[in-house]
Amino acid sequence: MDKAKMTMEKVVSLAKRRGFVFPGSDIYGGLANSWDYGPYGAQLKKNIKDHWWKTFVESRDDMVGLDAAIIMNPKVWEASGHISGFNDFLVECKECHERVRPDQHLDAVNQNSFMLSFSEMTFKRMEVEKLKREATGDPSSVNEATVSRYEKDIQLLGAKILGALRTIRCPHCGKQEWSHPTLFNLMFKTFIGPAEDTANIAYLRPETAQAMFVDFPLIAGVSRKRLPFGVAQIGKAFRNEITPGNFIFRTREFEQMEIEYFFDSKKSEWNDVFGYWQGEMESWMRSVGMDMDRVHPTEIPETDRAHYSTRTVDFEFDYPFGRKELFGLACRTDYDLSRHEKFSGRDMTWQDPETKEKITPFVVEPTFGVDRGLLAILLSAYDEEVISSEPGKEEARTVLRFAKAIAPVKVAVFPLLKNKPELVAKAREVFDILKKDVVCEFDDNGNVGKRYRRQDEIGTPYCVTIDFQTLDDGTVTVRDRDTMKQTRVSLADLGEYLWEHLQ
Ligand code: GAP
Repeated sequence: MDKAKMTMEKVVSLAKRRGFVFPGSDIYGGLANSWDYGPYGAQLKKNIKDHWWKTFVESRDDMVGLDAAIIMNPKVWEASGHISGFNDFLVECKECHERVRPDQHLDAVNQNSFMLSFSEMTFKRMEVEKLKREATGDPSSVNEATVSRYEKDIQLLGAKILGALRTIRCPHCGKQEWSHPTLFNLMFKTFIGPAEDTANIAYLRPETAQAMFVDFPLIAGVSRKRLPFGVAQIGKAFRNEITPGNFIFRTREFEQMEIEYFFDSKKSEWNDVFGYWQGEMESWMRSVGMDMDRVHPTEIPETDRAHYSTRTVDFEFDYPFGRKELFGLACRTDYDLSRHEKFSGRDMTWQDPETKEKITPFVVEPTFGVDRGLLAILLSAYDEEVISSEPGKEEARTVLRFAKAIAPVKVAVFPLLKNKPELVAKAREVFDILKKDVVCEFDDNGNVGKRYRRQDEIGTPYCVTIDFQTLDDGTVTVRDRDTMKQTRVSLADLGEYLWEHLQ
């Protein structure tokens, strides 16, 4: 299929029709940007996570896993910088009150002018407040000349900001008049216990990463790993995004698979560790069937990097709605461990058992969004083609060409005819044996052609059909999803045949 012709509508429609992803709370009219993974979606997601865990945890001896609490002590988020710095800009259309993130709409020149003016304005506002505070109790001592100079500057910077914003058209009503920008913290707040007061505020974690830093001394102790070693975690993260959208691309509740790889920066050059993990991420993406022609590693400039990062490479993907972030790789240095040491008063260093030297390890962080990964995998697997099932008859076929390792259903078993008990019984027998080893589906609805089309849309690599010949000679047909070729295989060899072909 010409990938340029692929639209989100096609993929979203297939995902809903076949039960990969549904709108959440559908019977109550849904909840904006909330999605539920249906039977095949849940299995696909599980397979992606299992494959990731197997690759990065179970198959390596320098990695261990963690499954930490979602709600952590709020001091974690003070130390990590999320309370003060995990903000997005928010502006509101003066006409229709649509809220947008200006950084997602400004071109590079206006983005630069916006950011510089905003940070200068914030600095000057703080200076004015400081001057006024210092003079409290004695208004005559305010340095009026300085304050009025700063206030004039603030006005000019405000006008510059609004000028940059005027280059953006409201995506809802098309007007170009915006409110002054404010900063909006993305963390979801909640309260621990029945009293909803500030002393009981807690946050839903906005990244899984922090528990891997906070638990580092415990993990290093119990695992007895020597540097370099990594900690991996899969779990939910929550962000009160201002502009969620594009199906499961940007949601307020999502899953992450993250690795914090700890190393001694005196023994390993951080850029080498970074390069190594970039390669590992790329080979994992290839192994789950991502279309690598659509994946673009992109160096993120300093102005756009997270506060903790000295280098970030985002893997961007060509989605039908544009080239946008898929996964990320960052060098977090010793920022997080040092901050937690400062805020908790605990020793966050690692002691070399031989030299007894204590060091604060550096960290390289490969991070993968499960939902974004699943979307990129769906888009990579989606294909449409015209086939001729009978001479002179053409029909359209939609097929999900999933990598076999992550296909939600590996094998479908069909009796040729539903109303022939001997075929149904034999098919059930085959299904009962296969389902012990692989995720299998039994289907006797409609004709075999329709069943093939359904399994193609689910992405099932193999369909096994039990027909009259099976009863005579103990052979079945195995149909390959990608080539549509049918092979006759004896029941005695079926397990081995499928095992070999599913590798
Ligand atoms: N620990 C580092 C970190 O959280 P990030 O770039 O903010 O870095 C990591 O997020 C990954 O999580 C992203 O590359 C993306 O795949 C996924 N992600 C982030 N925000 C998301 C959202 N609102 N919806 C879905 N996935 C999201």
